[in-house]
Amino acid sequence: MTTPENMGNHSADAAETEGLAAWIDRRLPVVSAFRSEYVDFRLPRNLNWLWNFGAILTAVLLLMLATGIFLAMNYTPTNAGAFLSVEAIDRQLSGGWLLRAMHMTGANLFLAALYIHLFRGLYYGSYKAPREILWLTGLLLLVMVMATAFAGYMLPWGQMSYWGADVITKAVGAVPLIGTALEHVMTGSDHLGDVFLHRFFVLHFLMAFLVVAVVGLHVVAIHVSGSNNPLGIEPKTKKDTLTFHPYYTTKDLVGLIIFALIFSLLMFFWPNLLAEPSNYTPADPMHTPADIEPEWYFLPFYGLLQSVPSKFGGLVAAAGSIAVLFFLPWLDRSPIRSARFRPVCRAGLFGLVIAFVLLALGGKHHAEGVWMLIARLAGLYYFGYFLVLLPLASRREKTRPLPASISAAQGDA
Ligand code: HEM
Repeated sequence: MTTPENMGNHSADAAETEGLAAWIDRRLPVVSAFRSEYVDFRLPRNLNWLWNFGAILTAVLLLMLATGIFLAMNYTPTNAGAFLSVEAIDRQLSGGWLLRAMHMTGANLFLAALYIHLFRGLYYGSYKAPREILWLTGLLLLVMVMATAFAGYMLPWGQMSYWGADVITKAVGAVPLIGTALEHVMTGSDHLGDVFLHRFFVLHFLMAFLVVAVVGLHVVAIHVSGSNNPLGIEPKTKKDTLTFHPYYTTKDLVGLIIFALIFSLLMFFWPNLLAEPSNYTPADPMHTPADIEPEWYFLPFYGLLQSVPSKFGGLVAAAGSIAVLFFLPWLDRSPIRSARFRPVCRAGLFGLVIAFVLLALGGKHHAEGVWMLIARLAGLYYFGYFLVLLPLASRREKTRPLPASISAAQGDA
């Protein structure tokens, strides 16, 4: 957080640095920047475990890049070779099974951590001024990570990859005017095969590195505005804050160790818990599987896609559910950030989580019969929350009184 205490500290830091570090620092102030932006950087003293997820996401992103590069060295992006090359990585390449298991578990837990990270922002109002751009860069990351995950899921070229690609390319084809052209850009030919796989392989690889660049912007934005906190009030004095090191380095390390334990448990003991068995059958354009469903993290959007009778309408609903989040800082006009002090918003958010889960269940049950009704009601609630309930509540809601300061709320005034 940029505060009067740490602003423009680079030269002071340079004076503290000695030897080779000082020599480098006088020419390229990376050491002093690291000190002022990390070691001595001050954060609110009351951050809870939900603030661990930024560090967790960064660590998983690095793991995905490291494992992905080695997988790419052994992968063949062709209709005939893709499935076999992935099988060979699993069965013949030394340590290949571990690389693939880490990449697959990583993808699932990355999305899970991303949803928790996003929900934390919704709950504590971290999208509000002065953090709008931080929020927007986060949403850009969400869209990019989703596109990367989708492209990655195509690569093993199993039944679910093929038929998932079929559903999505046809949905894109239903966009009026430009749909056919867009579909052709995706498939590259009149069928899903070599050209499609090549394109999605390049897209997957490229997007992963673009995500790293946008994470850089995201982190710069957080260093400008500083972290929000569970109370949603800005730190008033130095007493309300702690230095990143040793306090939050230790806290992040504990979070990372717990996360690594959960990661290892899933990967070593339930490797197929989140995997779809039919994706272990090679893609077969002549045989449509009985159930085509995406990975769990896309299910709520799939539920929305299916709950609207027209293909294009479904696509608008699914894309709209993310698009609406971009307008959130301007839809919610309340001066109070944290839902702890906003009873209506808090109850509304609880309903939002239920709606999201119901939409996912709707997606899983192919939005038929009673599930169709449930998915439609949940979809209405989802949009109703952001477009009606929140804007109204932000003007009329009776909020609870805010504490005088962070330290006062902790009984240390
Ligand atoms: C590749 C994905 C992402 C990475 C690596 C990442 C990384 C980080 C890091 C390191 C922080 C600071 C530590 C923390 O507050 O947890 C942070 C904060 C934040 N991120 Fe992300 N983030 C990602 C995606 C997102 C998404 C999808 C959103 C939501 C739209 C988002 C919104 C925010 C917000 C609002 C903050 C500030 C929170 C606060 O201080 O209350 N981020 N992120």
